[in-house]
Formats: sequence, C-alpha cells, structure tokens
Amino acid sequence: SDVAERTLGIIRDLKHLEGPMLPILHAIQAEFGYVPEEVKPLIASELNLSRAEVHGVVTFYHEFRDHPAGRHVLKLCRAEACQAMGSDRLADRVRQLLGIDFHQTTLDRAVTLEPVFCLGLCACAPAAMLDGEVYGRVDEHCLSEIMAEVRQ
Ligand code: FES
Repeated sequence: SDVAERTLGIIRDLKHLEGPMLPILHAIQAEFGYVPEEVKPLIASELNLSRAEVHGVVTFYHEFRDHPAGRHVLKLCRAEACQAMGSDRLADRVRQLLGIDFHQTTLDRAVTLEPVFCLGLCACAPAAMLDGEVYGRVDEHCLSEIMAEVRQ
C-alpha cells in the first residue's frame, strides 16, 4: 500500500541512526498526522523487534497519536507547576466544553485534545498550546478565545 511504501522509505532513511525508533515514529507522525496501526509490523521487521515492543513504545509516549487529529490540536499542560495552578480544574472545564476526553477528537473533527508534560511556561501556569501556539495563565477569558478559535 501507499502507507507501507512511504513508511518503508522513512524507516530506510533513519534506521542507521543510533536509537532509530523515536526518530522513525516522529517522522511517520509528521508524514501521516498519526501512527497508523499498519506501520507497526513494518517497523518491527525492519528493526528486528517484536510488534509488542514497537506497540509498547508508541503507547508509552504521549505525543504519538493512534488516529488522525482534528483540524486543531489543543494541548493542556498536565505537569506539576501547572497542576499547582489549577490545571486539573481547567482540564475538567475543557473536557466539559468540548464533550471529549484527552486523546479524543470532537465528532465534527474540529479539535483533538491532548495532554502535554511541560510547555516551558511554568511561570505562566496553567499553560496550553493550540496548533503550536502557546497560551499562559489560561483563565476563563483566555479559554473562551481558545474555544472560539477551535470552532473555526
Ligand atoms: Fe506546565 Fe511547565 S509545568 S508549562
């Protein structure tokens, strides 16, 4: 298949690296927007690993998606400094507003919600990132701007 061919190209470009698994997975996600199930056996056979090992790595790292993302990707920081500043409450509010949980995409495919572990904005907690743009001190007002943005 097309996915298989593109995947094999990526694997062959990167398999000479030391610790090639993560660079390969990142490149695959950049190519397809997620890590399709069908690439796992290809990676396993090219790197001489079991499918279970590949699957374990994909599920261990939160940044890898197992399904295509929505038009927008909203990441909420779940790390300590943000937790101390109310990120749990913020996450509850966002889940309620969007009607989805982390790692899910709204039915209209507008937005995917993902956790992230520190955005380097700890001094401006709680922090979020929408489509690569960071937001600090996310309060109700900031949140309504983010929500307006994801509805576009
Ligand atoms: Fe949230 Fe660092 S802990 S930005």
